[in-house]
Amino acid sequence: MLKLCILGGGFIGRFYAESLIGRRGKDVVQVVYARREETAKRFAEDYAVPHFTTDMEEAIGHPETDLVIIALPNYLHEEAVMRCVAHKKGVLCTKPLGRTAEEALRMTQACEDSGIFAGYLEDLCYTPKFLKAVKSVESGAIGRVLWAKSRETHPGPHSDWFWDLEKAGGGAILDLGCHCVEISRNFIGKEVLPVEVMCWADTQVKPIEAEDHAIGLVKYENGAIGQFEVSWTFRGGMDLRDEVMGTEGTVWINSFLRTGFEMFSSGQGADYVAEKAETSSGWLFPVGDEAHELGYPTMFVDMFEAYEKGTQPRETFYDGYVVNAILDAAYKSAKTKLWEPVQLPVWRGKRGLTKPSVYTEFDADHWLIKKEILPNGDHKTILKHKTTGEVSTR
Ligand SMILES: NC(=O)c1ccc[n+]([C@@H]2O[C@H](COP(=O)([O-])OP(=O)(O)OC[C@H]3O[C@@H](n4cnc5c(N)ncnc54)[C@H](O)[C@@H]3O)[C@@H](O)[C@H]2O)c1
Repeated sequence: MLKLCILGGGFIGRFYAESLIGRRGKDVVQVVYARREETAKRFAEDYAVPHFTTDMEEAIGHPETDLVIIALPNYLHEEAVMRCVAHKKGVLCTKPLGRTAEEALRMTQACEDSGIFAGYLEDLCYTPKFLKAVKSVESGAIGRVLWAKSRETHPGPHSDWFWDLEKAGGGAILDLGCHCVEISRNFIGKEVLPVEVMCWADTQVKPIEAEDHAIGLVKYENGAIGQFEVSWTFRGGMDLRDEVMGTEGTVWINSFLRTGFEMFSSGQGADYVAEKAETSSGWLFPVGDEAHELGYPTMFVDMFEAYEKGTQPRETFYDGYVVNAILDAAYKSAKTKLWEPVQLPVWRGKRGLTKPSVYTEFDADHWLIKKEILPNGDHKTILKHKTTGEVSTR
C-alpha cells in the first residue's frame, strides 16, 4: 500500500483523487496541501484524507507521505520537486513538467542525482485507446510512421493563473501542446531525435499576453513529422483527437468529444455533462467515466508498479524535459517565423537516423508507383523507370 500526498486541491488534484480512491485500490491519499485552508479542508473531507495543511514543506515531510503528487500551478512545479528531493520522497509531477526545458532539466537531474523516483503524469499517453494504438503501431500494423498529428482544443482553462504568462510559462502551446507532442513522440518512437520545429501562434480572441491558438510541425530525424493543433478559443467542448499515418495504415482516435455516448436534452434538469462541455441542452456528448477515458487510473497503476519494482514508468521526467525542449523551439519559431532547432543538451535516444527508402520494386527496371481499379473496372499500374525516370502506365 502506498501512502500518497497530493499538493494542490484544485481541478487536477481532485481528478487524481477520484482516480486513486473509490476504485477498491490499495493506495491511499494520506496528506493534502492547498494554498487556502478552506480548499485543503474541503478536499480532505471529500476524499477522507486524514491530514490537510497549507504548509507545503509539512505535507512533503509528513511521516504519512511515501510518494508526492504535484498538482500545482506550473510556476510551482520546480519548487515542489526540489522540496521532494530535499526530503528524499518519490515524486510524480503533472504536465507540463517545466515552464521551459531549462526548468525541466534541472528537475530531472536533481531527481536522478538524489536517486528518488520521478514520474511524469502525462495522462493522455495512458488512455486505453492510446495504449492499444501504440501497441499496434509498435508491432508494425501501420508500417513506418510518417505523420503523427494530435489536437487538443477547448474554450480555455478554468483558473486565473493559467492566463498569467509568468505563472503559466506560456499559453495554449505549453498547456495543451505538451500532451500533443508527447502523443506524437510515442507514435513516432521516443528514441527518434526531434530536430526542428515550425510554429504559427497568435492571440486571436482572449485579452492575454500568451497565445490562445497555435499550430506546429515537429520534424524528426527519421523523416517523420509530428503536428500539434492547440487552442483555448475552440467552441463546442473539449476536442482531443489523434491521427497517425503510416506506410501501411492509419489510426484515428477520438478521446473525448465522441466516445460513443450521445444524448439529447431540452435542458430540463441541466447538470454537468463533461469537462468543458459548454452546454447542457441539445445534442450532448457525455463521457462515461472521465477519469478512465483520460487515462488517469492506468497512469497511476504504471507509476506505482514502477515505484515498487524500482523500474522506470512509461513517462519519465526525462520525457517531460524533451517535450519542454520541443515547445521552447515552437515558441521561438512563432516569433522568428523560421524552422528552429530543438535544443537538447541531454539526449539519450538515437542519433544519425536517416529516412529509409520504402520503394516497391515492380521488375528489374521499374519502381511501382501505384495500382488502381477505375470505376469502369479497368486495372492500371503506374510505374517509374529506375534509370530514365520515365513514368508510364501498364
Ligand atoms: N490532463 C492533465 O494532466 C491536467 C489537467 C489540468 C491541469 N493539469 C495541470 O495541473 C496543474 C494544476 O492545474 P489545475 O487545473 O489543478 O489548477 P487549479 O487552479 O484548479 O488548482 C491549483 C491548486 O494549487 C494550489 N495552489 C497552491 N499555491 C497556489 C498558488 N500560488 N496559486 C494557485 N494555486 C495554488 C491550490 O490548492 C489550487 O487549488 C497545472 O500544472 C496544470 O497544467 C493537468
